[in-house]
Amino acid sequence: MIIEILNLIGFGLLGLASLPFVFFAVAVAFWRLWSFTIKPWLHPEDPVDLPYWIPYLGHSLSFFGNSDKLLEKGLNYVGRSHAIFGIQTLKRKLYIITDPADVSVAFNNNTALHFDGHLNELLINFGFSGEALRRAWHVPQPGDWCYLPGNAVNPDLISLNRLTEDVYRKQLLPGEKMDFLCKVFLESLTNTLNWENLDFCIVGNTEKGKLLSLQKLCRYTMVEATTQSLFGGHLHQLEPKIVDYMLRYNDNAWMVFFQYPDLFGTSPITEPRRMLTKVLEEFLQLPDEERNEQAWSIKTITAWQEVMGIDLRARASVLLMIYWAANSNEYNISFWVLAHVLHNPDLLQVVQDETEMAWVDGKLDIKYLCSRSPNLDAIFNEALRCNGGAMVSRIVMEPITIGDKLLKPGNAIIIPSRQLHMNEKVWGQNRREFDAFRFKRQKNLSRHPSYRPFGGGNTYCPGRVLAKEEVFGFLAILFRRFHLNLAEGVGPNGGRQNFPSLDDSSPALGITGPVKSHDVLISTMARTT
Ligand code: HEM
Ligand SMILES: *[C@@H]1O[C@H](CO)[C@@H](O)[C@H](O)[C@H]1NC(C)=O
Ligand SMILES: *[C@@H]1O[C@H](CO)[C@@H](O)[C@H](O)[C@H]1NC(C)=O
Ligand SMILES: *[C@@H]1O[C@H](CO)[C@@H](O)[C@H](O)[C@H]1NC(C)=O
Repeated sequence: MIIEILNLIGFGLLGLASLPFVFFAVAVAFWRLWSFTIKPWLHPEDPVDLPYWIPYLGHSLSFFGNSDKLLEKGLNYVGRSHAIFGIQTLKRKLYIITDPADVSVAFNNNTALHFDGHLNELLINFGFSGEALRRAWHVPQPGDWCYLPGNAVNPDLISLNRLTEDVYRKQLLPGEKMDFLCKVFLESLTNTLNWENLDFCIVGNTEKGKLLSLQKLCRYTMVEATTQSLFGGHLHQLEPKIVDYMLRYNDNAWMVFFQYPDLFGTSPITEPRRMLTKVLEEFLQLPDEERNEQAWSIKTITAWQEVMGIDLRARASVLLMIYWAANSNEYNISFWVLAHVLHNPDLLQVVQDETEMAWVDGKLDIKYLCSRSPNLDAIFNEALRCNGGAMVSRIVMEPITIGDKLLKPGNAIIIPSRQLHMNEKVWGQNRREFDAFRFKRQKNLSRHPSYRPFGGGNTYCPGRVLAKEEVFGFLAILFRRFHLNLAEGVGPNGGRQNFPSLDDSSPALGITGPVKSHDVLISTMARTT
């Protein structure tokens, strides 16, 4: 151990061979020996900690860099047994849970493992002050300013935070309200995907048509449609470049979630965040009759925020959170589905045929498309598996034993979907390959506890059904309007295009995107039907 340290700092030692320095090195060596060799041996019930060199800092830097690499290192450290292990960050220890059985236990226990503590941190990161937070949890009591029995917005008089959750579930889960949101979404796509008006994604011309960037195509159309479905045209009226700002915000959103310090106001998240907050604040100040295109959920949530007397900044920050959640994954998953389909002409044919079946008399039957497309289903699920990088987290509230490991209060658990989706014991040796029909061959795989693209437990993504309709609808409209093919001769040295790689350079929040410079160029022609 000491030799290791001497090696590590060897050349400095030559010049600085002073006594305090040697003492320091010896102290660190003993600390490391104690923490990562002796203590684990004395306490086999504690999750093994992945060793680190700098107390306190721990793995913070590698976690905010390539978290996937760090977690794989941890799995190797526990001999790929998928036993729970710990990594240390500045704030707290994170228990990494990747065994399917452990994951199920964790998702089912909402008392020992709680989301609210986490929600509070998230709200603060997004812009809540102490007073707003207190009000947001306040349950109206008789005599209170907010005690309005029988009112239409919050008839059960629950806290604002609980109401907000209830409302977005009602909005997003299958039913009339979801159908309406989806209808507005698809109408927006129909407007955007117009041959004469594709400037937002054209990167060149081909002999007979246009050369499109798949990244630009997905990013713009999906964020535009989500914006319309939640806010109608109101945000556009306040800021014509709203979609741009949302995309820039999205590209750096992890900095908000992980409180990445903005030292000199130069962080790339600062401007888009400020602009979106400003636009949402202006939106909130519009009189009701000038907000008539907003979705039901936005209307309901903002109305009760007002009753509770939440300050403007905090109100806008909740809207930003919802707006972000609705946007962040859709264009990335569409990108991956289309990238795989375009790179494989057989898949392209299969998917075109399937989407074509859902058009009846020139109208798209989205329910038919989503329930009768086994091939597209399989491709969608596999794309979610290969690219899903969400890390669900909870705070440990009371001691709980999972597997045979004792988790201690104050620490957090992380359930990283990438490690679940790449578990060799579940997915086999070809786990890193995109296998288009994996989920078609084995129908029950999509319910496997190691398949969690939408998280689980009480924060299980309420948008999951809508998400599929939006992506399938996007493909159906795209293929109906255009002939698309992988552009030829535009790859390296005028050859075939390479398949894009996942961008794993920052912590993943959901469906990971491609490396910025890895695009898919599509040669496109208008289709007459
Ligand atoms: C492929 C697309 C999507 C993926 C992969 C996805 C993934 C997730 C995941 C993993 C969570 C859990 C986060 C956690 O527990 O920390 C989540 C939560 C959430 N998602 Fe999605 N999502 C998608 C689409 C959508 C859409 C389209 C909407 C809304 C229009 C949406 C709205 C939400 C909301 C509001 C939550 C928070 C739920 C809560 O905290 O109770 N999602 N999503
Ligand atoms: C959650 O864990 C705690 C602590 O181990 C236990 O007492 C409780 O019964 C568990 N709850 C559920 C629903 O499993
Ligand atoms: C799925 O079905 C297979 C047989 O086709 C079975 O062996 C396996 O246990 C099932 N898995 C789940 C998670 O239900
Ligand atoms: C989607 O991809 C973009 C760009 O590649 C990335 O910055 C963003 O974080 C991804 N979204 C999620 C939810 O991870």
